[in-house]
Amino acid sequence: MNFAVFASGNGTNLQAIIDACRKKKIKGALKMVFSDKPDAFALTRARKAEVPCIAWIEPKAYKTREAFDKAVVKLLKAEGIDFVVLAGFMRILSSGFVRAYKNRILNIHPALLPAFKGVHSIKEAFEYGVKVAGVTVHIVDEEMDHGPIVVQAAVEVKTTDSLASLEGKIHEVEHRLYPQAVDLFARGKIKVVGRTVRVG
Ligand code: GRF
Repeated sequence: MNFAVFASGNGTNLQAIIDACRKKKIKGALKMVFSDKPDAFALTRARKAEVPCIAWIEPKAYKTREAFDKAVVKLLKAEGIDFVVLAGFMRILSSGFVRAYKNRILNIHPALLPAFKGVHSIKEAFEYGVKVAGVTVHIVDEEMDHGPIVVQAAVEVKTTDSLASLEGKIHEVEHRLYPQAVDLFARGKIKVVGRTVRVG
């Protein structure tokens, strides 16, 4: 299966996926890296890894979210992309996009969903004083940080942790968990049944 990674920023999760592909730990081909930001460091990582298709589209060039997403879906279809991996992609996908790739879009979120949705989840969880934080990989549906959960991993928050150390621990877990989830998906091991994901 061919997949695309979407990233808006640094791309450390993209890097973990690139490294896993190199080590043949993902049984799928990373064919495309896409960004909505021309200066995303993720694009530099993609160039270095010689990903076959590296693309960015300026959202402001489109009148609506739907029109932008339609252009992106067209590109994905033209490149023969079977599934999409969101890795720090900072745009909400329209329902047209979600329908075009129904149950074929993965996202990673740095919290144990459904707790701490949104963009500042690690900070919010830390400030809330949780003892267990974590990471969720889920299927993307039409609501933000909401779709069926594929895998989760817990991260213990110690009293000695700072926000920075917790962020470090969470990212480390992300970089281990996401390539594993992408591999499961690429091998057809993920089946969505209502809100539940059957793995294996
Ligand atoms: C990660 O923490 C991910 O969970 C969240 O955005 C961040 C992206 O980081 N969705 P990076 O660009 O992969 O380094």
